[in-house]
Amino acid sequence: MIEELLPSTVLTVEAYGDEGVDAPLYPEEEAVVRRAVLKRRREFTAVRVCARRAMEKLGVAPGPVLPDERGAPLWPEGLAGSMTHCQGYCAAALVRVGELASVGIDAEPHAALPEGVLTAVALPGEVARIARLSGEVPGVHFDRLLFSAKESVYKAWYPLTGKWLDFMEADLEFQVEDGEGTRGAFRATLLVDGPVVGGRGVNVFTGRWTARQGLIATAVTVALAG
Ligand SMILES: CC(C)(COP(=O)(O)OP(=O)(O)OC[C@H]1O[C@@H](n2cnc3c(N)ncnc32)[C@H](O)[C@@H]1OP(=O)(O)O)[C@@H](O)C(=O)NCCC(=O)NCCS
Repeated sequence: MIEELLPSTVLTVEAYGDEGVDAPLYPEEEAVVRRAVLKRRREFTAVRVCARRAMEKLGVAPGPVLPDERGAPLWPEGLAGSMTHCQGYCAAALVRVGELASVGIDAEPHAALPEGVLTAVALPGEVARIARLSGEVPGVHFDRLLFSAKESVYKAWYPLTGKWLDFMEADLEFQVEDGEGTRGAFRATLLVDGPVVGGRGVNVFTGRWTARQGLIATAVTVALAG
């Protein structure tokens, strides 16, 4: 699912169900999840199996993927990337830093958000646009799509800035590219100063989404200046 949302320079590996959940971890990774509950340990492991395979595909020797102080994955020198896991699915996306400035991916179950969450993560304009889209394409849970897209925006934003980005600090607009509502694009206008990439401020992030197989997946890429 993730592969089709990203340019071919981004290497993606995904896993479904229990694939990889019991794989061995590097000792440094083991230390991170030593006290974690089983669910966390299994998803942490499965997505790192994906990340290692992606590193191999890029011709980079696989190694431990440790979190920084905010939880972001620390990649080997020369790589950028992102990881996601949800019930029954996980994925890693990696790219050489000479190809893209940043990438963020997210996957969620394709179901409505719990009561009250939408207004906590969406601007009034986003709520209105989602209501209109939901009338036009009733098969898509646009509230969940918005949530996932914002998480992808954050995962692409954080490695470039080292800063928190609030849900209310990006204004998202979605396009639907087919009648069934299985895929499309989105645009996130940052409402705070964006990262500086190659000397230029970036105030709009763009991404793609898909909804199928009971999942919603989103991906954001930030291009190098030029
Ligand atoms: C960090 C966050 C985005 C993770 O999303 P999630 O849906 O809870 O979980 P996912 O399974 O999709 O992703 C988890 C992975 O995200 C990555 N991640 C965690 N923190 C990160 C950060 N600061 N930057 C980039 N990636 C991060 C990690 O690889 C993590 O997996 P790991 O813990 O096994 O290493 C989310 O918990 C969060 O804090 N969101 C609030 C910030 C936000 O989204 N703002 C919206 C701005 S418009």
